[in-house]
Amino acid sequence: MAEGKNLVGVDIGSSAIKVCQLKETRKGLALVKLGYEPLPPQTIIDGHVMNSGAVVEALTKCFRDAGVKQKDVALGVSGQSVIIRKISVPLMTAAELDEQIQWEAEQHIPFDIKDVQIDYEVLRRRPEAGQMDLLLVAAKRDEINDYAELVREAKLKPLCVDIDAFCLQNIFEITYGLPGDQTVALLNVGASLTSLNIVAKGVSAFTRDIANGGNAFTEEIQKQLGVSREQAEAYKLGGTGTEPVPAQVQNVLAQVADGLAGEIQRSLDFFLATSGESEISRIFLAGGGASLPSLATAIERRARVPVERFNPMSKVQVEAGVNPQIAQQRGEQLAVALGLSLRKDREKRA
Ligand SMILES: Nc1ncnc2c1ncn2[C@@H]1O[C@H](COP(=O)(O)OP(=O)(O)OP(=O)(O)O)[C@@H](O)[C@H]1O
Ligand SMILES: [Mg+2]
Repeated sequence: MAEGKNLVGVDIGSSAIKVCQLKETRKGLALVKLGYEPLPPQTIIDGHVMNSGAVVEALTKCFRDAGVKQKDVALGVSGQSVIIRKISVPLMTAAELDEQIQWEAEQHIPFDIKDVQIDYEVLRRRPEAGQMDLLLVAAKRDEINDYAELVREAKLKPLCVDIDAFCLQNIFEITYGLPGDQTVALLNVGASLTSLNIVAKGVSAFTRDIANGGNAFTEEIQKQLGVSREQAEAYKLGGTGTEPVPAQVQNVLAQVADGLAGEIQRSLDFFLATSGESEISRIFLAGGGASLPSLATAIERRARVPVERFNPMSKVQVEAGVNPQIAQQRGEQLAVALGLSLRKDREKRA
């Protein structure tokens, strides 16, 4: 692992802010601080912050309640503001690549190159073909700056920005290792967004963000049963215990799950048709949506691949002082924040 101090992982999701601080011990990773703070509906829509005051307030409260003192943070971004492509370029040295990358990126990125921040990773060198494969990441500066500015307003220092799909992969690697001979699909099903990262032979081979998630389930219950958003959300989570959940809810959940599973399947099919990989061995589900049994069932039925819940907390020891309820009940929702909190302040490259 890289040298230095772990940054505090800050995941500003549309339903809630998640904050994690990890420490490396001789026995493995230990979670020393954990914060979870819900955001009011409509605070963030389609990845755009509509109410920055609410985010700054929630972020400040989240750090205060969790007792996080450290200000150096790693920030997650996702969605339309980021483009990730696997590209091939002629074989060259690291120094040459550093010089060439802007030009190479321009051929593959549909945004004006001046508006984006470019980053890349060499996936594979293929001397026999005189080529090398890169993972190219381009993120819109404006969008990143908007998020970074919010974080600064909360008196924090964003030192690193990472992509949700890669955070998921990094914490997955710590938890399960990356099988060199298998292709696994990692899904983070959030409230408004589902990120997919297909990892083949230990490297990311395909990523996609699908603009659908847990909100769609709540909204459909709301619509079909004619109830309030709060009531619909409670029904989705299995009810409040004081009154029975109408039988119709299960049907609605299954219906919406099938729609989302269909969208996921289209991405899996696209990957299989274009990548040269013959199959996906397993699918792992994280994010709040991982707790929906109907979703795992629907994905399994369409993909004909075993679907498992991915609990990113399973290899992480929880230190005293961390709220055990959040750590236990919201494990899957912490995947991105945990992946972010693996980042270090002294890494050479962002
Ligand atoms: N036990 C549960 N059963 C079903 N759904 C759940 C459960 N717990 C949380 N969710 C749902 O998961 C979603 C929140 O998950 P998560 O925290 O991963 O999303 P987010 O990061 O805030 O959103 P996004 O990344 O899409 O902006 C909500 O739609 C919530 O209703
Ligand atoms: Mg999220």
